[in-house]
Amino acid sequence: MFQIRLFEPKDAKHYRSLRLESLKTYPECFDSKYQQQAELDKLFFEKLIESRSAKGKMVGAFARNTLIGICGVLFSADARQTAEIIQMYVKPDFQNKGVGKELLTCAKGLCLDRSIETLQLEVLKTNIGAAKFYEACGFRVDEALSQDLENVVLNAVVDGFHFSQNSN
Ligand SMILES: CC(C)(COP(=O)(O)OP(=O)(O)OC[C@H]1O[C@@H](n2cnc3c(N)ncnc32)[C@H](O)[C@@H]1OP(=O)(O)O)[C@@H](O)C(=O)NCCC(=O)NCCS
Repeated sequence: MFQIRLFEPKDAKHYRSLRLESLKTYPECFDSKYQQQAELDKLFFEKLIESRSAKGKMVGAFARNTLIGICGVLFSADARQTAEIIQMYVKPDFQNKGVGKELLTCAKGLCLDRSIETLQLEVLKTNIGAAKFYEACGFRVDEALSQDLENVVLNAVVDGFHFSQNSN
């Protein structure tokens, strides 16, 4: 059983702790490096959470009030009506229970509220499990954009998501 909700400024320290855990546990899955991030006084999204910034929102999954997963959504400043998913992570003990999918469902809801049509994200080409996860959640690889990058670019049309609405 878990709950999904947006982070409040009071949650910023818990966000920081789980984000650093993700970088330490899965260094091969993220561009950012644990040591370099741990030395920062404030992480990029920690500042956005604390200031309730409209530039981005962090969604959290909580099991008995303990943070077990995160998913960031960055809203673009231009008129493309695209939002980006970043920093997706679910604690190992809670993976494969539908937590990641529910985090993305909440992220989709934020986009619908803002009339955003497309969600985009990048996955390292070596992170095949995550790419399969996103595809299971309705994302499709953009072959043209992915060609010359170390990352695979995946897109999803917000209205075209097909999520199960059941939580464990
Ligand atoms: C990727 C990650 C966020 C997935 O979260 P999760 O809570 O385990 O995923 P869910 O249980 O919600 O899975 C949703 C769907 O994706 C599929 N899926 C999840 N992980 C998968 C994997 N490694 N390989 C293939 N399919 C996978 C599930 O089978 C499920 O499919 P279904 O809906 O058809 O049953 C999690 O494994 C993780 O934190 N990985 C390490 C960090 C990482 O790689 N982050 C992404 C950086 S871009």
